[in-house]
Amino acid sequence: MGWNAPMTEQEKDELLKRLESSVTALLDSVSVCSAGGGPGVTRLLYTKEWLEAQRAVAAKMTEIGLIAEYDDTGNLFGILPGEHSQQPSVITGSHIDTVVDGGKYDGAYGIAAGLAALEYLKETYGRPKRSLEVVSLCEEEGSRFPIAYWGSGSIAGERSFEDIQGLTDGEGVSFAAAMRECGFGLGRHREPARKNIGSFVELHIEQGGVLEYEGLPVGVVDAIVGQRRFNVTVNGKANHAGTTPMPMRRDALEGAGAMITMLREEAIRLGAPLVATVGRLQVSPNVPNVVPGKAEFTVDVRHSEPERLEAFCSWFTEAFRQAAESRGLEIVCLEWLREEPALMDEKLKGDIAAACGEMGIPFRRMVSGAGHDAQMLSRICPAAMLFVPSRGGVSHSPEEYTSPRGLALGVLVLARLLYRLGYEEDHAS
Ligand code: HGY
Ligand code: MN
Ligand code: MN
Repeated sequence: MGWNAPMTEQEKDELLKRLESSVTALLDSVSVCSAGGGPGVTRLLYTKEWLEAQRAVAAKMTEIGLIAEYDDTGNLFGILPGEHSQQPSVITGSHIDTVVDGGKYDGAYGIAAGLAALEYLKETYGRPKRSLEVVSLCEEEGSRFPIAYWGSGSIAGERSFEDIQGLTDGEGVSFAAAMRECGFGLGRHREPARKNIGSFVELHIEQGGVLEYEGLPVGVVDAIVGQRRFNVTVNGKANHAGTTPMPMRRDALEGAGAMITMLREEAIRLGAPLVATVGRLQVSPNVPNVVPGKAEFTVDVRHSEPERLEAFCSWFTEAFRQAAESRGLEIVCLEWLREEPALMDEKLKGDIAAACGEMGIPFRRMVSGAGHDAQMLSRICPAAMLFVPSRGGVSHSPEEYTSPRGLALGVLVLARLLYRLGYEEDHAS
């Protein structure tokens, strides 16, 4: 059995059963590392539960015979050294952090799948020709501090320790202090930027409903959308709710509400694939009998075409300025994330399609509406992404779910791809 000869249906089913149990066990061991309180998984960068999760992954890496190694941001690598160690590594993996009250699969599945795939490959085929690595990237979501893709961005040289100076979370805890408390940013581990990556493959849940709707087990990603994220602050004048006549108010929340409605209506008018979201709104003083003096909200805009993304952001910042001016309000729109759309590597997409074809696993090509680490790593090496279905298309929610068989099919394709890239002679990158 194995990829040196076609696999029978029975062999494929036995392997899928094995992969189901290994990937679900790994996911369960990581998903318990979560801040209490909410219904979902909350594992923010450099928190106690983040460190617990990295330690659980490191223990698994060691258990399956990989070399576990951190870099100085807290990215964790499990390395299966190849015979030709001077050749660039083939890396798979994803991010260990989550949104607040998120699901157990976003990010963590790509790490668990990489571990399950390397465990199978090592046991069945021994040492690869080229080193294979699985990476548990320290942060991607931007959920705790106003920076995202910290893990993959540091590897790609797009993020540096200078970028995080002065950043604090919602409670005023500094990024640098939180990082040091977990033992990183102290020069104890190697520099994060890497040059020796031959290719990066990220397996991820779709986080949308296309694969489920079409009854397909695998998606091959052609492109990942570009993103812009802003913090918008609207300042008016706090005043008495009873004695301030309506025409004399400078109501920051009413102004913000008008802007949020404008944003949504224009995004609907322009249509897919453009999406615009206001995910967080804070009002002050946030009490019933005071006209709000200040409203702060976030804007997240995405599109697969850079010019359309740029045009929409220019439009909304000007529309917001005019809406503030007409209400006697002040406004500041601060952009803190700007990621361009990324195309996935044609050759790697062909390799994934060949792996699916060989094993009779149907798939479709698609664009990712979610941002991913693969778009950051595509800056420094050929990158590819494959998806498995999300039940009801739900993600960033405690209801996020993919069946064990759905997870295992993704791992099977990933393992076949890693075999091709790591063991087969003609794939020296
Ligand atoms: O927001 C995103 O697209 C990703 O989940 N960070
Ligand atoms: Mn996410
Ligand atoms: Mn993700």
